[in-house]
Amino acid sequence: MERVQKIEKMKILTLGNEGNEGNVLLRQKAKPITKINAEIAEIAAALLDTLYCGKGVGLAGPQVGFMKRIFVVHVDKDMPRVFINPSVLETSEETVKYEEGCLSIPGVWVDVIRPKTLRIKAWNEKGKPFILDADGILARVILHEYDHLEGMLFIDRLSEVKRNRILAKIKKRV
Ligand code: NI
Repeated sequence: MERVQKIEKMKILTLGNEGNEGNVLLRQKAKPITKINAEIAEIAAALLDTLYCGKGVGLAGPQVGFMKRIFVVHVDKDMPRVFINPSVLETSEETVKYEEGCLSIPGVWVDVIRPKTLRIKAWNEKGKPFILDADGILARVILHEYDHLEGMLFIDRLSEVKRNRILAKIKKRV
């Protein structure tokens, strides 16, 4: 019970000034989950709760300081989805440009180019493996969240000039 209460208080890490925890953890590669058990299922549920509180569409473990390979996605007109130890099997050569934001970089919305479709393999919170073909917003959010497991942020997919402009803005704000 104690653990659940702790998990419910998940805090979303953000990029900020020097010394900010988020600056470090959001840049680290997450480690595989070795056992999908009740604790991991609780974490998945807590990630979804935190996602809804933040009114986002996707949230990855590292964004709350849980440095394991798990993320959750819930886009409009779809069901909540949990991805554990995911691997992207295929992405389309065709790309699309679409405006993206991130709960860890509040207030920043920019166009990012990504593959239009993908095929991903992962396990759900019950330990069941699945393969999913996704396109549209779902594919975009999955790729964005997958990047978080690699310590990569959406601003890293922009030109250096654009990225530095955003980072300067963030530093000024905090
Ligand atoms: Ni994000």
